[in-house]
Amino acid sequence: LETRVFFLSPAHVARLALPRVTPSLDERSVPWSVIHVEDGDEHKTMQQVERIVGELAEAGASRDTVAVTVGGGVTGDIGGFAASMYMRGLPFVQIPTSLLAQVDASIGGKVGVNHARAKNLVGATYQPHLVLTDPALLDTLPEREFSNGMAEAIKTAIVGDPGLFERLAQTPGPVIDDVVAACVRVKARVVEGDPFERDSRRVLNLGHTLGHALEAALSYRGLPHGAAVGLGLLAAWRIAVARGVAEPVWLERTRELLGRFGLPTEAPAVDEASLRAALQLDKKRRAGGLTFVLPLRPGRVEIVDDVAERELVAALHD
Ligand SMILES: NC(=O)c1ccc[n+]([C@@H]2O[C@H](COP(=O)([O-])OP(=O)(O)OC[C@H]3O[C@@H](n4cnc5c(N)ncnc54)[C@H](O)[C@@H]3O)[C@@H](O)[C@H]2O)c1
Repeated sequence: LETRVFFLSPAHVARLALPRVTPSLDERSVPWSVIHVEDGDEHKTMQQVERIVGELAEAGASRDTVAVTVGGGVTGDIGGFAASMYMRGLPFVQIPTSLLAQVDASIGGKVGVNHARAKNLVGATYQPHLVLTDPALLDTLPEREFSNGMAEAIKTAIVGDPGLFERLAQTPGPVIDDVVAACVRVKARVVEGDPFERDSRRVLNLGHTLGHALEAALSYRGLPHGAAVGLGLLAAWRIAVARGVAEPVWLERTRELLGRFGLPTEAPAVDEASLRAALQLDKKRRAGGLTFVLPLRPGRVEIVDDVAERELVAALHD
């Protein structure tokens, strides 16, 4: 049996990225083909996994097949999930091509799809054998997607890299290779300490409790994910400042950073009942209720479980 490679990739991303990878396969006479992945979160579905599995079977993929996802976070999540299931698991490689996927989604082994009842409801922990990250692939990324990724990069700096937080604020800012490498180091370190998300890995949820609630309250149509995370970061600082555990300067500096990378700094008007309902749902999904990641200063965060709903709602605005 010979090794074969199946690239799982949206057609337009495959056109951009594959010419960088396939020559080395051709040199070694490794056969490869491409299975199209429809990206965008509305296509992160079980039906699409089923179609991909069908195409793998149709093409005669066997245990010697390597699945290589090439795309953003949606592609990695769907493709990795299909790879985890096909014949109980194909070896799998991630080539992330969006900033969000490079700094976050490609690291940690979480794969899966959305379900009508909740985002990311169905999935697995399935580590790739290799993550190949090339920041040059980001040259073609639309501005809006770049901002989305920067929100996660700012979060990551607050969670675990005060030096990166400083460099992001400088003029000129850091080169993108530096941002990606620094974020990968932080995420890898956090994930290694808690691969199955039982405890300490939850620090990566900084800004996401309120971010998710905002997205849900606006029916996922009002705000891009990164914008919601950014507003969630500001709210987290406000709570920490109000409790006297963080200096107001970090709130201001984070606000400046968000603005600098094209992210909103003012939360939109949102129906308070919908927001509370979304927070309640979040609470129900976790054993032990709502936990909250409180930033103390860049590089230092704390997980607490005593944040009241009204404290969260109040923190959305200055
Ligand atoms: N597994 C994890 O740990 C993890 C972590 C964070 C987020 N996620 C998931 O990631 C998803 C979001 O990822 P995303 O923001 O990358 O979305 P995405 O995969 O939909 O990509 C965003 C857009 O960018 C385009 N794109 C990607 N690379 C490009 C390139 N090089 N040039 C031009 N266009 C390019 C895509 O075609 C798409 O239109 C969500 O579903 C989220 O749940 C997963």
